[in-house]
Amino acid sequence: MRSDHHLLLLPLLGAITASAAPTSDQPSAVSPRQIQCAALPSPFPTWQQLPLQSTLPDPFLPLRYTTTDNAAGSSTFAKDVMAGKGPNRVASREEWYQCRQPEILQMLQEYQFGYYPDPAQEKVEATRSGNTLSISVTAGGKKGSFRATVQLPSGASASKKAPVVINIGGMANQPYLSAGIAVAQFDYTSVAPDSNSKTGAFWSIYNGRDIGVLTAWAWGFHRTLDAINMTVPEIDPTRVGVTGCSRLGKAALAAGLFDKRITLTMPMSSGVQGLGPYRYYTMSGQGENLENSKSGAGWWTNSKLGTFVNHAENLPYDAHTIAAAIAPRALVIDQGTGDQFVNSKGTATVIFPAAKLVYDWLGAGDKIAINVRSGGHCDNSGYSGILPYVQKVFFGTATTKDFHSLGSYGSPVPSAYPWSTAIPKA
Ligand SMILES: *[C@@H]1O[C@H](CO)[C@@H](O)[C@H](O)[C@H]1NC(C)=O
Repeated sequence: MRSDHHLLLLPLLGAITASAAPTSDQPSAVSPRQIQCAALPSPFPTWQQLPLQSTLPDPFLPLRYTTTDNAAGSSTFAKDVMAGKGPNRVASREEWYQCRQPEILQMLQEYQFGYYPDPAQEKVEATRSGNTLSISVTAGGKKGSFRATVQLPSGASASKKAPVVINIGGMANQPYLSAGIAVAQFDYTSVAPDSNSKTGAFWSIYNGRDIGVLTAWAWGFHRTLDAINMTVPEIDPTRVGVTGCSRLGKAALAAGLFDKRITLTMPMSSGVQGLGPYRYYTMSGQGENLENSKSGAGWWTNSKLGTFVNHAENLPYDAHTIAAAIAPRALVIDQGTGDQFVNSKGTATVIFPAAKLVYDWLGAGDKIAINVRSGGHCDNSGYSGILPYVQKVFFGTATTKDFHSLGSYGSPVPSAYPWSTAIPKA
């Protein structure tokens, strides 16, 4: 019924050998370069086996070489790792895409999101009645159903397809419709409630698995896209944005992370477990952090993340790693400077520039963007603020707005990512 090409899942236990295709400027006589990926440690290291890193972890260091059994008595191991002087770092873009990016996805599922269900095992069915889609997913003899709605911009047709932004929890629809962009929304509470109660479409199928609700909501975005692809010929399923704000922004980030069909990921005021840093959580606002998010809404993520409570600085990643794993697909971040709930300053001055270093290195610096605005948490003005960037991604429309500006926050804080002086050359 549905293709399963989109998920970045690889069997990662054991070394992977992959051959890099010759780039176009290489003579065809040159044989493809063999790349040997570092095997993922099995089992995954516990917090005790990972060095305490008070700065954002080096995105180029494979997990295997991050563990303290590499320290071999070295008193400077953690410092070296933080500074980008760890052993066997990723050295080329091919290695990033073939080894490190899939490793990050695996690692994030293990430590935070829980394992995303295999879409190849699912059968998705959808019917459309006017602007309402009824979506059913069957897997392993179990079935879950939910609904979505679509709003089409005027003039959209099967021969003049519109891109779409799928949202949960509501957004500013009208500026998007006026710009020729369809807006879809699904009832996220009927996919998985924002609680420990394992009801809703996702849990009807996957109850019993240690998966966070953010992942369940991400799954809802993807199954909505499947349904749009099957029943809404007025929408172009190859130009797709995903958005939500706050906890729903964390979910939008997960949706962009776990499905390569998502063209543009648009997390708004997303905070910790979104694009707020676990480290540096005191930079502004209320100080949402691992501890209070895990105790307040532990169901957003898996139980493994709970083992890092009070040890967040032993996590081998931070929010910049999540953003970097989306590259080279587009990501636009919205943060309000008057938002007392999430660490906007941390996202803007620490996470964004650290992730941008990876995007830049991959030659995709224009695919990461930020809108630092005034106003508070989930202020709808953020949607108008990012719209010129959305139009650039979907239509190629030029914009003069600087989407790398940190606004009133001014400058980035490079001391938070000391490996910035050790970006791989290749
Ligand atoms: C839409 O469905 C077709 C037919 O199953 C599939 O080949 C295509 O990859 C799907 N596109 C998206 C964006 O899911």
